[in-house]
Amino acid sequence: MFKIGVDIEDIKRFEKYVHDIGDEFLKLIFTQKELEYCFSYKNPARHLAARFCAKEALVKAVSDLNLKLDYCEIEILNKPNGAPFYVLDENKNLNTSLSLSHDKTKAMAVALVERRKRVF
Ligand SMILES: CC(C)(COP(=O)(O)OP(=O)(O)OC[C@H]1O[C@@H](n2cnc3c(N)ncnc32)[C@H](O)[C@@H]1OP(=O)(O)O)[C@@H](O)C(=O)NCCC(=O)NCCS
Repeated sequence: MFKIGVDIEDIKRFEKYVHDIGDEFLKLIFTQKELEYCFSYKNPARHLAARFCAKEALVKAVSDLNLKLDYCEIEILNKPNGAPFYVLDENKNLNTSLSLSHDKTKAMAVALVERRKRVF
């Protein structure tokens, strides 16, 4: 069965971090690939906020499966067409789906997750 998680954040919250890709707070939350993606844009804050939402949304979704994930265990990358997807350790045994959106002030994410069926 699929579980769903959703999150919304003020982009303003992330604006103080956009001057230093090596900021300690950013490195605690985001992977190097995520930071490189976000900082490749003129306005990194909206992409940082969206990824933060994606992590929170997945944490909410898996909590309903009695699982715990740290933010640093959740990576968000993008396909060549721009669509975002989660990268998780294979051992977590999860199928996931992700959608992000952001405008000038808010970012949001919707996460879907299901436990992968074991094939014997
Ligand atoms: C995919 C698309 C719908 C995204 O629309 P948008 O308004 O730019 O999206 P938002 O600003 O709400 O959200 C941006 C997020 O969308 C996601 N996204 C980008 N391309 C995507 C795609 N192809 N599929 C799914 N999600 C996508 C990304 O996660 C992006 O955030 P990120 O760069 O931080 O990862 C748009 O870029 C697009 O290609 N539209 C097609 C338009 C079209 O076909 N028009 C036909 C004539 S009407």
